[in-house]
Amino acid sequence: MGPRHFLTLLDLSPEELRYLIQRAITIKNGLKAHGPTYTPFTNRTMAMIFEKSSTRTRVSFETGMAQFGGHALFLSPRDTQLGRGEPISDTARVLSEMVDLVMIRTFSHAGLEEFAAASSVPVINALTDDYHPCQLLADVMTWTELRGSVRGRTAVWIGDGNNMCHSWINAARQFDFNLRVCCPEGYEPREDIMAAAGDHVTLMRDPMAAAQGADLITTDVWASMGQEEEQAKREADFAGFQVTESMLDTAADDVLFLHCLPAHRGEEISTTLLDDPRAVVWQEAGNRLHAQKALIEFLLLGQVNH
Ligand code: CP
Ligand code: NVA
Repeated sequence: MGPRHFLTLLDLSPEELRYLIQRAITIKNGLKAHGPTYTPFTNRTMAMIFEKSSTRTRVSFETGMAQFGGHALFLSPRDTQLGRGEPISDTARVLSEMVDLVMIRTFSHAGLEEFAAASSVPVINALTDDYHPCQLLADVMTWTELRGSVRGRTAVWIGDGNNMCHSWINAARQFDFNLRVCCPEGYEPREDIMAAAGDHVTLMRDPMAAAQGADLITTDVWASMGQEEEQAKREADFAGFQVTESMLDTAADDVLFLHCLPAHRGEEISTTLLDDPRAVVWQEAGNRLHAQKALIEFLLLGQVNH
C-alpha cells in the first residue's frame, strides 16, 4: 500500500478528520503548558515546495517540524531543477529517496496529483488553484475550540468560488455542517464539487440574506494568487460583497468571522472588521501551526493517544 496523502479533505474519513481536530487541540495545549518538549520526529525532514508566495503556511510548517525535533527544507522553483523543467514525477521519486514528507504549494491541482502518484512518502497540499485543505483544518479547529461541535451548524461563504470556497464545501460534507455559498454571477464554485456535497451546500446571491442567523461567516480575497491582472474587473464584479460589521449583526449573536489571510481591508472586508471581537483571525492563523503538526504526526505515525 502506498503512503497516505492529504491533497483534499476527502483523503481522510470524517472520523479521521474529527480525530485530527481534537489531536490539534491536544498538541496546542501541550505546547502551551510544557513548551516544545514533544519531539517525535528527531532528524526527520520535510521538503516544502513553494511555487507561490506564502507567509503563514511556510512559517507554520517550518516551525512545526522544528518543534517536533525535525527539519524543513524550503524549495523554490527559482533555485531548484523544477524551475528548469525537471519532470514533476522525477522530482517526486528523488525527494522520496531522501525526505520523510513533502509539502507543495503550486498552481495546478493535477500537477500535485501527478507528484503524489510518483511519491513514496506522504504529500500535503499547501494550496493549489483548486483547494486549500490545510487552512480548513485550522478553521474547523478554531470554530470547534470556540463553539464546540460544528455538526449541524451553519457557515456562510461570501465572495469568490475559489480554492478556499471549494475546501469549505468539502469541509461541510466531511464535518456535516451547512454551508451557504454567496457569490456574484460568474464566480460560482465548481459545479461538480458543489454537487458532490448535496444538500450540505446552498447557493445564494444576497450577502445580507445569506448572513442571517449564521453561526460563522468567512470570506477571502477577490483576486487569488495568479489572478492579479483581473484585480480591477473583480473589484467591480464583487461590489456589494464586502463583509461588514452590519452583516455580522444579522447573524447569530455568537457568530464568528474567519479569514484565511492575507486580507485586503476595504475590499472583501470593511476597514475595521478585523478589529471586531467576533473576528478571530489571529487565533485562526496561529492554529495553522497546531493543525498541521497534528496532520504531519497522523501521516507519519497514524493515530496516537497521548
Ligand atoms: N492563509 C495562508 O495560506 O496564508 P499564506 O499564503 O501566507 O501561507
Ligand atoms: N484564495 C487565496 C488564498 C490565499 C491563502 C489564493 O489562492 O491566493
